[in-house]
Amino acid sequence: MTGPATSIAGSSDEGLGGMGSGGTQFSNTGFSNTGFSNTGFSDAGSGSTELSNTRSGNAGSGSTRSDNTGFDNTEPGGRRRAAVVPAAVIAGLGGWLPGVVVTNDQLAARLDTSDQWIRQRTGIRERRHAGPGWSTGMLAVEASRLALKAADRTEVDAVVLATTTPDQPCPATAPWVAAVLGLSGVAAFDIAAVCTGFLYGLAAASGLIASGHARSVLLIGAETYSSILDPGDRTTTAIFGDGAGAVVLRAGDPDEPGAVRRCLLGSDGEQAQMIQVPGGGSRQRLSGRVAQPGDEYFQMQGRYTYRHAVDRMTESSLAALRQAGWSIGDVDRFVAHQANARITEAVGERLGLAADRTLANIARVGNTAAASIPLLLAESAADGTLRPGHRTLLAAFGGGLTWGATTLVWPDVCAYVGTADAPRGISRPPAGTI
Ligand code: UT7
Repeated sequence: MTGPATSIAGSSDEGLGGMGSGGTQFSNTGFSNTGFSNTGFSDAGSGSTELSNTRSGNAGSGSTRSDNTGFDNTEPGGRRRAAVVPAAVIAGLGGWLPGVVVTNDQLAARLDTSDQWIRQRTGIRERRHAGPGWSTGMLAVEASRLALKAADRTEVDAVVLATTTPDQPCPATAPWVAAVLGLSGVAAFDIAAVCTGFLYGLAAASGLIASGHARSVLLIGAETYSSILDPGDRTTTAIFGDGAGAVVLRAGDPDEPGAVRRCLLGSDGEQAQMIQVPGGGSRQRLSGRVAQPGDEYFQMQGRYTYRHAVDRMTESSLAALRQAGWSIGDVDRFVAHQANARITEAVGERLGLAADRTLANIARVGNTAAASIPLLLAESAADGTLRPGHRTLLAAFGGGLTWGATTLVWPDVCAYVGTADAPRGISRPPAGTI
């Protein structure tokens, strides 16, 4: 049962009907509309190449924990070692795509664009759209169920959802997601950092864990960009797609595989207008500007954004490598926000990274904003392109403007991926459960 996963678009030979998160479930159950990081944790582990491929423990559920941080800080002989600030450690992943495939040719049938232009300028072949019966929260629930299953958990202490496309402007979507998952009562909040949302979420989750506010966090990136795209805008419509990815993070040792190092984050609010939805907020009242048709749609200055995305992701990646004590040659896998295949290639070239180290799914799913990195991580872990021991660099750039990067050594964890129209794939079952 340790073979590679079935890919998202393919069929699976795994019987997954019992996972309780089928694509049609929401509509049948009357889903209604109610329904950071100066954490100071150590950068220890830098340059670590002697990694064990043994499975990470499911911290937090063990019986030998010696404190409330969820990992064992007892030395052999029973002495307690000096307090170590716990790190957020990846314990399981889930990725979920809605069922509607939108090809470049389908877009070209109604917009002044072509399959050739979109492929050459972005590397995108097709993207997924959530149908009318789906909201961002619902995609988040699907990915979360898979991540919890992968981590072999039913409970976490906090739910954090990174999204640009929440179910409603108010309240946050995360509490609703938590409730549907049977996690009512836990801390739950959204993060709005556009395409950098997952990295900001990693920093927030790390902070919750390092400070002792939580021993486990479900971190989700989920988007339904199809709900905010101007159907007449060939640029944004060609790029963005819908999807969700989730990771379960547990308190662990900063030195162990899966421990997320400090996230190096930045922002530049002076460039906020480069990526924006102009309407729907208090700024409109402040400026006295009369609402314009299309204010509800996502707008992007593509060329300007492109240059900054390359610069900022390169700079953040170099800072994250310095922090880890890695040279570029140490990087086994580069997981960049899937903004545009040319952006990822340009960052890789500037970093001097071998092309075969870069993971990508943009051809199949487009730019899924905050969902992009967790979805790519889940898919890559599930299909075996991301393996235990891989020294992994994450980098993102998005509206705000925001950007960030971090590193980790990939742990031995499960990842499940699924879609609304195909059985779920599975990388391998959580030990002892299947
Ligand atoms: O997710 C994080 C934030 N987002 C990003 O990082 C995205 C960054 N930007 C990009 O990926 C690229 O800038 C785009 C893909 C958006 C645009 O590609 P580009 O090579 O930078 O094109 P451009 O914006 O300079 O436009 C060149 C031409 C324009 O026509 P004119 O004015 O020269 O006649 C555009 O109107 O390409 C046109 N164009 C298109 N043509 C056919 C723009 N989109 C399309 C399209 N099909 N879909």
